[in-house]
Amino acid sequence: MNKYYGLKPGTVGKQESEHTAVVRDAAARGMVLLEHDGTLPLKEHSKIALYGFGARNTIFCGLGAASFTSREEVTIEEGLERAGIMVTSKAYLERYAAAIQAEEDAYYAVMRETAKESLIAGVVRMYGEPFIPGPQPVITEEDIKEASEASVAVFVISRTAGEGADRKPVEGDYLLSSEEKENLRILSLNFKKVIVLLNVVGQMDTSFIRSLPNLGALVFVGQAAGVTGLAVADLLTGRVNPEGKLVDTWAEKYEDYPNAENFAAMNGNLDDEVYSEGIYVGYRYFDTFGITPAYPFGYGLSYTDFSITTETVYKENGQIIIDTVVTNTGDRYEGRETVQVYVSAPNGEMEKVYQELIGFEKTDILKAGETQKLQITVDIRSLTCYSEKKAAWILEKGDYLVRVGNSSRNTSVAAILRVEEEILCEQCRNLCMPEWKIEEISPENEVHCGSEKKAAEIAGAKLLTINKEDVKEIVHHYQVPVWEKKENREQTGEETGEQTRGQTGEQNRKDILVFDEKNGDKEVKPRNLLRFEEVIAGKTSLDDFVNSLSAEEMSCLCVGNAGEEDATFVTYGSGNTKTEAVIPMAPGTCDTTRNLIQSRGIPNMHMSDGGSGLRLLPEFEVDREGNLLTEGVISVRNVSKIIGGDYIKDRVNHSVYEQYTTGLPMATLLAQTWDRECWRKCGEIEGKEMQMFHIELWLAPSMNIHRNPLCGRNFEYYSEDPVITGECASAVINAIQSFRCAGVTMKHFACNNQEDNRHATNVHISERALREIYLKGFEIAVKKADPTAIMTSYNLLNGTHTANHYELLTCIAREEWGFDGMIMTDWGTTSQDDRDMHKYKASSCAGCIRAGNDLIMPGSRFDIESLYTAAEEGDMTAEEMRICSKRILRTMIKLEAGRL
Ligand code: BGC
Repeated sequence: MNKYYGLKPGTVGKQESEHTAVVRDAAARGMVLLEHDGTLPLKEHSKIALYGFGARNTIFCGLGAASFTSREEVTIEEGLERAGIMVTSKAYLERYAAAIQAEEDAYYAVMRETAKESLIAGVVRMYGEPFIPGPQPVITEEDIKEASEASVAVFVISRTAGEGADRKPVEGDYLLSSEEKENLRILSLNFKKVIVLLNVVGQMDTSFIRSLPNLGALVFVGQAAGVTGLAVADLLTGRVNPEGKLVDTWAEKYEDYPNAENFAAMNGNLDDEVYSEGIYVGYRYFDTFGITPAYPFGYGLSYTDFSITTETVYKENGQIIIDTVVTNTGDRYEGRETVQVYVSAPNGEMEKVYQELIGFEKTDILKAGETQKLQITVDIRSLTCYSEKKAAWILEKGDYLVRVGNSSRNTSVAAILRVEEEILCEQCRNLCMPEWKIEEISPENEVHCGSEKKAAEIAGAKLLTINKEDVKEIVHHYQVPVWEKKENREQTGEETGEQTRGQTGEQNRKDILVFDEKNGDKEVKPRNLLRFEEVIAGKTSLDDFVNSLSAEEMSCLCVGNAGEEDATFVTYGSGNTKTEAVIPMAPGTCDTTRNLIQSRGIPNMHMSDGGSGLRLLPEFEVDREGNLLTEGVISVRNVSKIIGGDYIKDRVNHSVYEQYTTGLPMATLLAQTWDRECWRKCGEIEGKEMQMFHIELWLAPSMNIHRNPLCGRNFEYYSEDPVITGECASAVINAIQSFRCAGVTMKHFACNNQEDNRHATNVHISERALREIYLKGFEIAVKKADPTAIMTSYNLLNGTHTANHYELLTCIAREEWGFDGMIMTDWGTTSQDDRDMHKYKASSCAGCIRAGNDLIMPGSRFDIESLYTAAEEGDMTAEEMRICSKRILRTMIKLEAGRL
């Protein structure tokens, strides 16, 4: 029996319009004005000539897990028109749209053929071969003539990317295509001003655009789901004054990035990825090596101007407090400014980057002439670096310059923090060292991007001394891993306890399963088994319940429930819809955990992607008997197009439900707001919608670092900087988890920084770079927001799959940071398909459990059998299974799975 939570068609939830207003505002505030000569904002009823692919075919989000299912999608053309702007190039847009439509129809006809054989095959093909339009037509004299009533041309450049494939530094992707250049040249010749909008997934080459003589404005508008067009219009018309600041460095040219030649497929080696740039990622590299970018980290223009002055810097309870005053010095527009604080640490035994972001705050909306005080608080610990030699976070001695400004390249030294003797702040253990020493790049001499004012600023800056008393030393002690304990006990001949408590083996299997001879197949007749409801009711302790589970049951519990019956090799009542259990459904969710719902009352935990908002089936169909008739895969964007027509078959005799959700701006746009309040509000939207549609775990936020602009999923990730990544994620997580029954899953832990060969790439990285750059954001979020779950990545880390990495998952995340939740794999991490084609083997199922990776998702019969076999053969102890099982059950208790 199933229970559905969708809305009846026509009952547009009040929340839909409220939530749309929030994300529209967030999107506009995250867009970054890169160039501006005063052309904007557009006046009311302005006329513009609108061109480019994205004008009418606006790209709303990248491909893959982070797609969205909002009711409405507003293109840039429509958004501008709704704001009262008159588009004079309608005839051109019609012709161009018809040409694209014809190409799209041909593409979907091919996809439909594959989908006819199997919908999944069609979806997989669509993922692998996304629709790429042919070269755009060159704008003709006729086109220009038709639109000549306007003096301003707006040209929209669009790019997409997504799961499974990286971008390329070629024309039409990272570079402009020759047709785009030609069109820009023509517009530049024929209109007084040209405004260029980048409706793209991340950085690209902007050199040609910047060379246009009459460039009025260049805006990185990104992709903001359904509200993209509305937010663009808000920004261009001045309803929102641009306030977004970049969270990535936009280089002059692709080759300027430190790993340009070696990133992923660029050097032809997809098996091994050597992070030879070490800690020099993004602005940390550009600033230290003295390379001038096109647009630096933290940069963004406004229609007004601001001044920032530092009033005082002082030390209090292990923190540095920076008091600043911000004034809107313009005379016309109101707006907001972000104060950014960086630190330049001294080079000591260890090399340091020129500067790193350590804090930021944003003003309220300031009217022209208005002033606001902003206080930025920085934990002294955030100044430390990781010494592999000492296996510790330390503060090397020397002078630390605190810089305050409104971009990484526009700061003033506000204070000097003097560390007189080295301070050991946190004693760890080296846990993820590379198999061989990585040759990392190093600046030959001190080039740096420091300003000439530096010496004078330093001389005038306030001096504060930092000493041992300011930072309480932490010393980590790590537990002995279960397998080591077992080996020790075996060596000393001590009883291991496995036989009595583990209940593994054939005898136990027979004890629990009663085969239904009549049907000649396995069916469960559970007898006197403890039930999870008894734990919930306080009649049984969780420990007793877990101890009562057989290895076979734990094999089912530690594996998700993809494929339902298929997954249930022991048929423990599983997701079989014909059982008596009431199974709450949220069709289109990624997956669930309901293998033991019938036999043990272990509820179903629903998980749903992803970074752009809940990805559910927007509409689904249920027959009179309560059977769901719509395949979940339809929640993948554009799948309805490969089905062709309405996928709801009978709107009269069947019940149709709706699950429209709110699309969030891509993660990078959200980060570009630098606005904790905005992150909180977006998190609240997720929390509310999770409650509404009964989703317990959001499969986001995605928190990998933008190591190189070509990574196909960068748009899903926040930034090249771990601090803004961690801060943004923490605000979103805290907001979501303030809702009852709602939890998050931070992903992909860790170093999922490329998409080509993402399942089998071995990342070779120094422990210092790993901890300071790639783990830092996760660490901040664990400490500030206590996320419910973590999802491991597909790749290997220094020779071990992250999914099987005991030191990463158990020692670092749990023991050092105090992560107390559940860890799950990414989807199909343990799948052995195609593995012969790769240098490195797939991760192992038992390896997940041993590492403390509690739940294998989405789960398959193979996974369950592998676990059970490993248990029987002693590759994994019952104690390890119990530890993981308990964490899964604890998560269910925390999220009240199946009870709301
Ligand atoms: C992605 C994850 C996603 C999962 C479920 C995987 O392919 O890497 O980010 O959550 O699928 O959709």
